[in-house]
Amino acid sequence: MIQTTFSSYLAESWNKIGEIKILKPGGMTLDFSIDALNLTIPKCKINENIKILDVGAGFGVLSIYASTNYPNSEIIATDISKCMIDSLNYSIQGNQIKNVTAKVMDGQSMPELQSESFDYCFSMFGLIYFPDRLKSLKEMYRLLKSNNNSKVSIGSWQSDAFLPMVLEKTYEKVTVGSSGGLKLTSKQPALSLDDKVLFKSELEQAGFKNVEIHSIGHPLEVTTESLSNYLRPENPVVDDFFKLIGDDNINKFKETFINLVLELFPKNENGFHIVPWNSYIGIGEKL
Ligand SMILES: C[S@@+](CC[C@H](N)C(=O)[O-])C[C@H]1O[C@@H](n2cnc3c(N)ncnc32)[C@H](O)[C@@H]1O
Repeated sequence: MIQTTFSSYLAESWNKIGEIKILKPGGMTLDFSIDALNLTIPKCKINENIKILDVGAGFGVLSIYASTNYPNSEIIATDISKCMIDSLNYSIQGNQIKNVTAKVMDGQSMPELQSESFDYCFSMFGLIYFPDRLKSLKEMYRLLKSNNNSKVSIGSWQSDAFLPMVLEKTYEKVTVGSSGGLKLTSKQPALSLDDKVLFKSELEQAGFKNVEIHSIGHPLEVTTESLSNYLRPENPVVDDFFKLIGDDNINKFKETFINLVLELFPKNENGFHIVPWNSYIGIGEKL
């Protein structure tokens, strides 16, 4: 089996998700986004007119939450996928939100944004999918104000985050042959910053100081019936594995994934599988 380039590194793969018509974007990245906001923005600034940039904003989980919890903030939410920005605009218009502007933009190069114009820049589980992370981090550095305690705040998955972890274990199991299961020859994008040391060094290479990498977990209760929902090909993270194993093996892959979850995280007395979702939140300061 030839390992192709992971499609979750490609902008167009994120458009396959399609427009999502949700007024209050949530899901499992919300708790991590709230953590990142709390760890990054001091409480005394909550009501100030701070400028926030959200890069790889998706359909706006962090931005929509921040719009009401930082009521005097001005937020620019950017994403390379037009679908995501259309979904975010649906939520902005439906909630009559005045302090969020959504723009289609490649997070690796944002020339239409002025240098030194933001107080805080976030990328929750976005930067990890950019082909050139360092270029993007340098761009975020350019956009943050100097001498202002400005901070960048990045969310990345740890290697035991539920979906990428079980996808990888499933791949190894499905490809098992006489020489054992296949290992990925390069990291899947979802886990591209699962190394604390690498994460810190990339933030420092971009110019950030006083870098701290926080480790945060939000285990999730899932039902057996809901497990197949994680295996939608519209999700580029899942589709990467479907492409690796080929169309003929997709059903086997799905079955193995579900059996692995049952084995690794047996149902508790309430009928739920408690699955781990662990992330790093890396925060650096521009002096
Ligand atoms: C897993 S989603 C995360 C969305 C959101 N931040 C959240 O926490 O729910 C990753 C997002 O990164 C975006 N993305 C991927 N490559 C990008 C790039 N080069 N520039 C900007 N956004 C990008 C995708 O379109 C997608 O919306």
